Amino acid sequence: MENVEVLAPSPGKHNMENYEETCKNFKWEDVEKVFSWSTTGKVNLAYEAVDRMVDEKGKGDMVALYYCDSKIEEKYTFADMKAYSNKFANVLRKYGIGKGDRVFIFMPRSPKLYFSFLGIVKVGAIAGPLFEAFMEAALKDRLSDSEAVAIVTTPELKGRILKDELPNLKHIFVVGANGDLGEREIDWDAEMAQASDEAELEWVDRETPLFLLYTSGSTGKPKGIIHVHNDMLGYYTTGKYVGDLQEGDMYWCTADPGWVTGVVYGMLAPWLNGCSTILRGGRFNADEWYQTLEKYKVTVWYSAPTAFRLLMAEGEEKIKQYDLSSLRHIMSVGEPLNPEVIRWFMKTLNVRVHDTWFMTETGMQMICNYPCMEIKLGSMGKPVPGVEAAIVDDDGNVLPPLQMGNLAIKKGWPAQMRAVWKNPEKFNEYFKHDPWYISGDSAYMDEDGYFFFQGRVDDVINTAGERVGPFEVESKLIEHPAIAEAGVIGKPDPVRGEIIKAFIALNEGYEWTEELAKEVRDFVKKGLAAHAAPREFEVKDKLPKTRSGKIMRRVLKAWELGLPVGDLSTMED
Ligand code: WTA
Repeated sequence: MENVEVLAPSPGKHNMENYEETCKNFKWEDVEKVFSWSTTGKVNLAYEAVDRMVDEKGKGDMVALYYCDSKIEEKYTFADMKAYSNKFANVLRKYGIGKGDRVFIFMPRSPKLYFSFLGIVKVGAIAGPLFEAFMEAALKDRLSDSEAVAIVTTPELKGRILKDELPNLKHIFVVGANGDLGEREIDWDAEMAQASDEAELEWVDRETPLFLLYTSGSTGKPKGIIHVHNDMLGYYTTGKYVGDLQEGDMYWCTADPGWVTGVVYGMLAPWLNGCSTILRGGRFNADEWYQTLEKYKVTVWYSAPTAFRLLMAEGEEKIKQYDLSSLRHIMSVGEPLNPEVIRWFMKTLNVRVHDTWFMTETGMQMICNYPCMEIKLGSMGKPVPGVEAAIVDDDGNVLPPLQMGNLAIKKGWPAQMRAVWKNPEKFNEYFKHDPWYISGDSAYMDEDGYFFFQGRVDDVINTAGERVGPFEVESKLIEHPAIAEAGVIGKPDPVRGEIIKAFIALNEGYEWTEELAKEVRDFVKKGLAAHAAPREFEVKDKLPKTRSGKIMRRVLKAWELGLPVGDLSTMED
C-alpha cells in the first residue's frame, strides 16, 4: 500500500478548491437555494434542467444538445428542448397519461429519446428507460412488473414487445412509423407535429417518483429502482464538484440512457449546471470517438474503463493524430479503473482520469476523485461532499482503515433510491444495518480516507461496465431443451473486466458441439440481450449444488480461477 502512485492535483481554478473545507461546510439545504422551487414552491425536474435556462436565465439560444453519429449531425437549443418536451407532454395528456403512470422508452440513442423522457417527466409520469439490446423476455419482465401503460419505441424494435401478454400497455408510440401502425400503436411524429409547444407542467412534490430503472441482483428477477424529483440536489452537486462543470462547458458522456449513468450524467446533471451535452449514436469506433472529442472541443468527458482499454489497444499513434487539447479531465465509471489507463492518458494527453463510483440505487456519484485532490492510482477517491461512506462488517459495525469489508453509505443522501417497485423486502435488505446502505461491493479505506474497490460481495457480473444478474442468464439457459443445469459466473477478462461464462450439464441424448454452442448463445441473446449471452461454456456431468438445490457459483468460480473451493459442508454430495 505504501507503493501507491500519486498524481498531483489538476492545475487551474475549480468549483471546489479544498476538499476537506468543502465537506466541513457543506449542507444540502444550501443547495436547494440554487433551484427555483426554493422561491416558487413548484417542483419539476424537467423545468429546473431545461425550462429554467429559457425562462429565468435568458439562455434559450444556447445549445443544450448536440447529436451526432456516423451520418447525422444535429443541434437543439434549450428553447428547442423546452418546446419539444412540451409537445410530448401534450401528446401524453391527449392519451390520458399523467401523474404516476409508468411510461417506458425503448429506442436507440437519439434526440427524440430525450424529448420523450422530458415530456414524461413534465406530466409527472414515471419514465422507464430500457436499453435497446433487451429482447422479448427481458422486456416483458420489466413492462409487466411495472404495469407500464405506454412505451415509446421504433419500427425496428416494436416487434419485441409482446403486446398480447401485456394487457396494461395501452399505447405504443412509434418514432418514425411513417403511418405504418398496428394495434394500439400511435404515430409519434404525426402527434408531435400537431401538438402545441406550450404546456402547463405538472408541479409535484419533491418525493414524487421521477424514473424507474431495472437493475440486476444475484438472485431473482431484476428490481425496479425508484428515483424521485428531489434527486436533482445530488445531480447538481456532483455535476458541480465531480464534473467541475461550468456554464459553457462542452460535455460528453458516452453512456446509454438505458442505464443510470446515461440518464443522470448524459442529460440531467450537465443541464442543471448549464452545460451543452453531446449525444453520440452508433457503436464504439476509436476514430469516430476521437473525431467527436476534437470537433466539438469537448472539455469534460465521461466514459468507462472498457472503452479506455479499447482506445489504448489502438495505440498512441492514433490518439496523437487528434487535437484533444480542449479536455480538462476525463471521468470513468462502472468498473474498476486500472492505474494503467490513468498513466496512459497522462502520457498521451497530460490529462487526468477521475474514477467515480456509484450504482443505480445510489442515483448519483458517491465516491470520486476531484480536480483539486491528489489521485492515488487504484483508488476510487473520497465521498462526495454531503455523503458519508464507511466500510462495515457483516453485522454493520464500522471497521477501521485498511480492513476490507462492505462498502456502505449513511442513508439520507438526496438521490438515494426511494423504493424497489412493489418489493419492500428487497428495499429493506439494502438498509438492514441501519443507518447504513449496504452496496454489495467490497472495499477498504486507507488512512487518508481514500476508498479502494475490491469486488462484488455477491455473484453479480460486471461485463464491460454492464451489470448482469447470473440468475436471469441461468433461468434462460435451462429453458433450452439441451440444458439440464446451468451455473453462470464472471470470468476475468483483460478488456471487458469480466466475461460471462456458463457451466452447464446437458440433458440425455445431447452432444455438445460448436453448432449447439452457437444455438444456445443465440437463444440467450434472443431471449434476454446480447450482452447477457455467455461467451464461454464448459460442460460438466453435474454442477455443484447445495442440499437445497442451489447452484454453488462460488465453487464454479474457484474452479475457474484455480483457487481452493473452501467450505463444502452445504454441498449435496
Ligand atoms: C460497479 C453503474 C469499480 C460496482 C454506475 C457497482 C464500479 C456497480 C465503479 C453498479 C467503479 C460502479 N469502480 N466498480 N468506479 N462504479 N462499479 O448499477 O460493482 O449499473 O456496484 O451503476 O458497478 O452498477 P450500475
